Amino acid sequence: MMGAFYPLNLFLFTLSLVAITAHAHNITAILDGFPDYSVYNSFLSQTKLADEINSRETITCLVLSNGAMSALTAKHPLTVIKNILSLHVLLDYYDPQKLHQISKGTTLTTTLYQTTGNAPGNLGFVNITDLQGGKVAFGSAIPGSKLDSSYTKSVKQIPYNISIIEISAPIIAPGILTAPAPSHCSEVLRNIMLKTVLCEIFGHEFSGIYQVFVVS
Ligand SMILES: *[C@@H]1O[C@H](CO)[C@@H](O)[C@H](O)[C@H]1NC(C)=O
Ligand SMILES: *[C@@H]1O[C@H](CO)[C@@H](O)[C@H](O)[C@H]1NC(C)=O
Ligand SMILES: *[C@@H]1O[C@H](CO)[C@@H](O)[C@H](O)[C@H]1NC(C)=O
Repeated sequence: MMGAFYPLNLFLFTLSLVAITAHAHNITAILDGFPDYSVYNSFLSQTKLADEINSRETITCLVLSNGAMSALTAKHPLTVIKNILSLHVLLDYYDPQKLHQISKGTTLTTTLYQTTGNAPGNLGFVNITDLQGGKVAFGSAIPGSKLDSSYTKSVKQIPYNISIIEISAPIIAPGILTAPAPSHCSEVLRNIMLKTVLCEIFGHEFSGIYQVFVVS
């Protein structure tokens, strides 16, 4: 009987090998070689953003030096830091060359924050603008935001899987400091859905109670 399982085991083993080689980069291991980004690296692990970065094939990390991180970490709880750092992970590959060749000099790019389902409008997008004199600036894509961060240097590129570049200051989108954490958001949604189902089961005579539940 055991023999029958052999081809299946071999198949699964091959599949897992493919999975390992398809996602070859490990952001934690890469940044371990750069003590300047040790705080950023530690927060990628604490917030589990490192796992999300490693599971994606085409990605750009905008890293912040320990000095630039201190302003963030001193003031904000981990959930807010997670939201902010996920805005620094671009779902596209930008090496220094591509940054300086942006068509029409400006573009909006999607970030990991957009994938949390927690980012209304342009909140999960970053504006990259090639300013005159070769300076490349970054800011929130929300209209009227300042382009307060700029490209400082290249850290590491593995074309076209992962690019790591340093920027001068954190990108802060309006509203991101007060946005709820993704898990809390889905919990609220789950509660509302449960209450909706209960309301439908018990019928309209309970609609008054349902209103009270939703408000509470
Ligand atoms: C980039 O990713 C592709 C697809 O996941 C993989 O096949 C390739 O080996 C990776 N390249 C490098 C240099 O790691
Ligand atoms: C990534 O690298 C870190 C540090 O070297 C290590 O602790 C971790 O296990 C690695 N993760 C994976 C998925 O290999
Ligand atoms: C990026 O921001 C600048 C400055 O606010 C703005 O002029 C530009 O139109 C924005 N780019 C895009 C693609 O929206």
